Amino acid sequence: MIVNGKADEFVDWYDADGNIINASDGGIIYADGKYHWYGQALRPLPNGANGNGGQSTVTGVVMYASADLENWEYEGVILPCSDDPNNDLYPPMRFERPKIIYNDKTKKYVLWCHYVDYPGDHGERSGTADAGVAICDTVNGKYEWLGFCRPIDDNGYVRDCTVYKDNDGSAYFIFDRQETEWNRCQHIVKLSDDYLSFTNEYKRIETAFRREAAAIVYRRGYYYMLTSGLTSWRFNRAKYFRAKSLMGDWEDMGDPCVNDDEGTTFNSQTTFIFNVEGTDMYVHMAERHNTKNFLHCSYIWLPIDFHDDDTLSINYRESWNIK
Ligand code: DGJ
Repeated sequence: MIVNGKADEFVDWYDADGNIINASDGGIIYADGKYHWYGQALRPLPNGANGNGGQSTVTGVVMYASADLENWEYEGVILPCSDDPNNDLYPPMRFERPKIIYNDKTKKYVLWCHYVDYPGDHGERSGTADAGVAICDTVNGKYEWLGFCRPIDDNGYVRDCTVYKDNDGSAYFIFDRQETEWNRCQHIVKLSDDYLSFTNEYKRIETAFRREAAAIVYRRGYYYMLTSGLTSWRFNRAKYFRAKSLMGDWEDMGDPCVNDDEGTTFNSQTTFIFNVEGTDMYVHMAERHNTKNFLHCSYIWLPIDFHDDDTLSINYRESWNIK
């Protein structure tokens, strides 16, 4: 059973060892007959050494595996922070919103994230607003850090990001590109064939102006992109967009949340969308960020309801069965 709890409650989920699952703002990839759930490990150090509530990582990206999406085995740290002060990954730092896709041609797993170097504070200089990339031969092995860069040009800071692998094997980096204090907009950039760099093919999604925390899903002729507004860790009203093609026109479809009277996405923020293997169920993964202690963030998983008129909606459920 998936237990989200009451809409104002923080619920810890536990792995098979009895430890709190600690995989912030990541995603799920299905490989080798299992779901692999990954994210940044976040927990506060004494004296706020890694930001308020522990919002920067001193561990890295961790992974859990499950056959049924309910019982999770800890698979360990797949992309660790480094002990070397001269290394890109010296903590505290951030692999924010990491996302993994598999390249069928190179047979490599590729992880992209919004990279923020030591001490893990968002900024404008190189190394604090960039896209970071890592690679691995196996889904749950040790990922090799390849470095960081900016898509399109150096004039746009990289903020929240996601990646999306299309049905034809092409892949895309989607991010909140910040050009000035006010001018922030979702952009989609096609990745190279090996998924390790950016092509020149991109689109500014004008309708998704000042949106972040994007997640994309495709179903029956439409791509849907769910997003949040820009209020940092504070919850705000979700909004979704749809398009017939990734580089096409994205239509503003409004708030997908039903009976979300306060306009807070049920006190959470979009993280990722995954398909339950062999079914037509798509699950909206969100996070109820606990800014006092990020170890105790809640994961809010809800099924997406798709409708005949190519719209979608999400209803809150305190608990539900995924299969
Ligand atoms: C906004 C993002 O959407 C959040 O998930 C988080 O990354 C904060 N920024 C960090 O300040």
